[in-house]
Amino acid sequence: MTKTTISVIKADVGSVSGHGVAHPELLDICDEVLNDALETGLLNDYYITRCGDDIDMIMTHRNGEENEEVHKTAFDAFMKATQKARELKLYGAGQDLLSDTFSGNIKGMGPGVAEMEFKERPSDPVIVYCCDKTEPGAFNLPLYRIFADPFNTAGLVIDPSLHDGFKFEVFDVMEHRKVIMDCPEESYDLLALLGSTGRYVIKRIFKKNGEIAASVSTERLNLMAGQYVGKDDPAAIIRAQSGFPAAGEVIEPFAFPHLVGGWMRGSHNGPLMPTSQEEANPIRFDGPPRIIGLGFQINKSELVGPVDLFDDPAFDPTRQQAAQIATYMRRHGPFEPHRLPSEEMEYTSLPGVLTKLEDRFKKME
Ligand code: F6R
Ligand code: MG
Ligand code: MG
Repeated sequence: MTKTTISVIKADVGSVSGHGVAHPELLDICDEVLNDALETGLLNDYYITRCGDDIDMIMTHRNGEENEEVHKTAFDAFMKATQKARELKLYGAGQDLLSDTFSGNIKGMGPGVAEMEFKERPSDPVIVYCCDKTEPGAFNLPLYRIFADPFNTAGLVIDPSLHDGFKFEVFDVMEHRKVIMDCPEESYDLLALLGSTGRYVIKRIFKKNGEIAASVSTERLNLMAGQYVGKDDPAAIIRAQSGFPAAGEVIEPFAFPHLVGGWMRGSHNGPLMPTSQEEANPIRFDGPPRIIGLGFQINKSELVGPVDLFDDPAFDPTRQQAAQIATYMRRHGPFEPHRLPSEEMEYTSLPGVLTKLEDRFKKME
């Protein structure tokens, strides 16, 4: 049977009240463009959502990863939405589009991309996560826990189909190189890299037999453009059940609101707060960083669902804890570890301050 591809392509092309919330009219425009692609048969299905100021287009088709027409469709949708954003004078209109001419592949043009192609199982649950006000390295900790930590994923110990572990493909986003590591065999070496969330990021995870299990968008806009042009708020696709971690095991790590880089001006650490789609509004100090989760079943290249995974009172304590951590972190004001170390900040006046003080610095004895 022909394979199914899921492409999640996302961008911030303008929002309401600063970098807050993508305007509903922008989502409507994306819907029109993707609906046309459905009618021509390019796409088999799609679902559009938003997390904060980012629009996430979840598309299913049979054209494989990095398909030029699928990428162009996403690009066209973001271009049209940008026009509307400009008309409405929305904030940051077109902020994630680095060029207005499509160049064959949307990667490198600003939007984030997570894709995977696979042969559908008799029943194929897939979970999509979308974030705002954070970076791809925010997925390092939860993905490690899902695919490598038996204290999170019971199946790693008690399900023979998971017992062999998984392979992690890790990108070094500074040096543009990548490495594949085996888990559990190399778990300590893997953790040595993954702890540096601003530099080493999980791109994909595979079963030991090579089957795709997870895929993350890893575009770093700030590095690509040579200067800061917007956050690289990531998305991820994860397969669940029957040989993969159960849906509940894929969701469980987000009950802990771990600290991630991003938040105000992409320059602060803060807790990752899981919310429903409705509540994905990063308002307080432009945050705290948000994540939404959508659970689908893939049926003959169509999307059944979604279930809004964090629209669940079981996550209320996590949100409360995240709000408390937000308050605690905020009390540090401009001090680390709330403020990111200077090399990780996306806004900094430090070089200017140092230049100004250059003559006044005296050698110490
Ligand atoms: C963080 C983010 C916001 C902005 C902040 C300043 O990812 O999008 O926190 O960095 O609102 O925005 P500008 O510089 O556009 O005024
Ligand atoms: Mg924005
Ligand atoms: Mg954003």
